[in-house]
Amino acid sequence: MSLQAPIGVFDSGVGGLSILRALRAELPAENFVYFADSGHAPYGERGDAYVIARTHAVARQLLDEHRIKALVVACNTATAAAIHLLRAEYPGLPVVGVEPALKPAIALSRTGRIGVMATRGTLASAKFAALHDSLKGQADFVLQPCDGLADAIQNDDATKIVALCAQYMRSLGTFGSENGQIDTLVLGCTHYPFASHHLQPLAGPLVRLVETGEPVARQARRLLEAAGLAKPQGEGGTGWETTGDAAALAAAAGRWLQL
Ligand code: DGL
Repeated sequence: MSLQAPIGVFDSGVGGLSILRALRAELPAENFVYFADSGHAPYGERGDAYVIARTHAVARQLLDEHRIKALVVACNTATAAAIHLLRAEYPGLPVVGVEPALKPAIALSRTGRIGVMATRGTLASAKFAALHDSLKGQADFVLQPCDGLADAIQNDDATKIVALCAQYMRSLGTFGSENGQIDTLVLGCTHYPFASHHLQPLAGPLVRLVETGEPVARQARRLLEAAGLAKPQGEGGTGWETTGDAAALAAAAGRWLQL
């Protein structure tokens, strides 16, 4: 396996760009190929069978056409539904997933009340249930499925983004640093960091928004190094693939990553 080979980074659409941003910062020498499955987005409300089938198809294409040396599943919904299947199918391939950052949120929270925004698929998954159960008693998690929000971000529909952020923040409850208030908000879908500028004012200045890009990028570095696959120096580049509109992906990469 060539160290020059790219790392595949995959999401249902543009959300995984929030993970790619952190990966490029952590691993500047590496080559990446970003795959936005926008022609099949959103995943979050579609059920496991669909997400598993798409995850397999995308992984196969990245391996066949790009000879990737590692895969980052930059999608909470696909990680929850399919990462164990990918690992079983490709035992030699380093695979990194993302999951809602509940543990980091516990460390940050003072009130012990933590909001979690994610897709319906992620929150309904066995993987999330196991994570949630393992942390019982350590904090009070308020779970909010956010139907339509990833899709609105995907389509850059500002009116819908504003309306859905307001609706879901209202149903999460009261935010602030007093007892009984949510002081930490987990963004459990990789699309949501791109709505932070709407969520933060609604939550107020004392509330921390937690995303997963940096820990995922550090984990990717650890796995590459352990497998002897890290590219030590040089300048990396990023290639692009999408099953949807290439111009929309380019616009999102320009808007959010200055690429
Ligand atoms: N960005 C994805 C996630 O992290 C999925 C969004 C969707 O397609 O519904 O869950």
